[in-house]
Amino acid sequence: MTTNLSMKIQSVRLYCSAVSIGKLPSDGLPEYAFLGRSNCGKSSLINAITQRKRMARASGTPGKTQLLNYFFINESWYLVDLPGYGWARAPKTQRQSLTYMIETYLQKRKDLTTAFVLIDSRHVLLPIDHYLIEKLGENNIPFSIILTKADKLKKGVLEKNYRSFREKLLLSWEELPPIFISSSLKKQGLEEIRNYIEKVNKSLTQK
Ligand code: GTP
Ligand code: MG
Repeated sequence: MTTNLSMKIQSVRLYCSAVSIGKLPSDGLPEYAFLGRSNCGKSSLINAITQRKRMARASGTPGKTQLLNYFFINESWYLVDLPGYGWARAPKTQRQSLTYMIETYLQKRKDLTTAFVLIDSRHVLLPIDHYLIEKLGENNIPFSIILTKADKLKKGVLEKNYRSFREKLLLSWEELPPIFISSSLKKQGLEEIRNYIEKVNKSLTQK
């Protein structure tokens, strides 16, 4: 018997935009955060997954997202759009404060159900991404990986990058987390990510 897990996005609204973790929702509902280098496509993927064109603000200029943006989905769970890290050209103080915001969020936020680490499929596992993944491990935060902007690569190159990415991760992890491949532009991989979230949500309600 196959179970139909296909999740429908019935409602989406911006719940809050916070500068620090002191002002976040306290209802204990599951939340899924999108993390990754500046410009890797976090906000665009949130729009694609929720089937909204401009819910999260996306831009070609790095450093677009500066706050912890909470989107409330189907009145039952949150997608969190975080600022990007590692934006080399940002003023140092701004870079430090965004890094602090992200790291504090990861260390303190108990409601974080799963972190999605987004990595541009063209530059696979840079040291800064590796550092973030190690941090998630140290903090025991469940995570999945999404290789983004798949439309920018030819199929063969994408497959090669995917394989080398897995090999690099296997150097420090015994078991690999789920790895999704997405394109917000071509709407690739969205159903898989939605269904994965649905599966985790269901597993939480069964506990
Ligand atoms: P910050 O908020 O600065 O951290 O960036 P972000 O990770 O939220 O990236 P954002 O979604 O703003 O996208 C950055 C740029 O990449 C924009 O110009 C998007 O149009 C482009 N982009 C995002 N996803 C895709 C994709 O799947 N394919 C292509 N071709 N371009 C994409
Ligand atoms: Mg953004």
